[in-house]
Amino acid sequence: MTEVHRYPIRTRVLHWLTAVLVFSALFVGFVMVNSLASYGALVRVHMTLGVLILVVVVVRAANRFTHRTPALPATVGSVEHKLVVGSELGLYALMLAQPLIGWAMVSAGGRPIVVFGAIHLPRIAPFDADLYFFLRQAHSVLAYLLVLTIAAHVSAVLLHTLTLRDRMLSRMTFGRDAIEQKGAPSEDREGIMTVD
Ligand code: HEM
Repeated sequence: MTEVHRYPIRTRVLHWLTAVLVFSALFVGFVMVNSLASYGALVRVHMTLGVLILVVVVVRAANRFTHRTPALPATVGSVEHKLVVGSELGLYALMLAQPLIGWAMVSAGGRPIVVFGAIHLPRIAPFDADLYFFLRQAHSVLAYLLVLTIAAHVSAVLLHTLTLRDRMLSRMTFGRDAIEQKGAPSEDREGIMTVD
């Protein structure tokens, strides 16, 4: 069976938490701008999701850049390796920039930033119509860029898992128990290795 180097549990939890939150923020974002009746309620949910994403991505980036990552399968060549690292950094940049732009956009529009129904966040940009217009456009462009980058990311993982059969997806799943050993990779009975 192909050997799989798996991410540690905290990285896998952070990955799927981010995936659910970003998918929800995109979904609610696109629905609310096309909804007259529910706009007010949806925008409050959207802002809460967006600020949660900012917090989770800061934690995730701190985790990512202070720990080494498990080795990629042998099916990943040197050019693809560079693409993997580049697209990962791009995703981090987008996931950090998008909530900050959203927060700054609402600030520039002069509206209150309320999350979890009660917590008022401070403004991070001056009240300014031109700035609001610019940030509003940027928020849309980054939303579409996020959709494209996530689509490319999911397609690449599925291509590896289904056509090259290198079990790429197993690096991020919870399917089987794996022996975790701090500081060095370890292997379990089913060929799954974890790295801390
Ligand atoms: C990763 C986090 C976020 C994602 C993926 C995201 C995504 C989106 C999307 C897809 C739209 C609709 C864009 C369009 O169709 O033009 C949108 C609109 C909006 N977003 Fe976000 N957003 C995020 C974070 C935030 C944050 C943190 C805030 C504010 C604190 C925010 C405030 C808004 C507002 C107010 C709108 C609607 C603007 C309008 O009605 O014209 N977003 N967002």
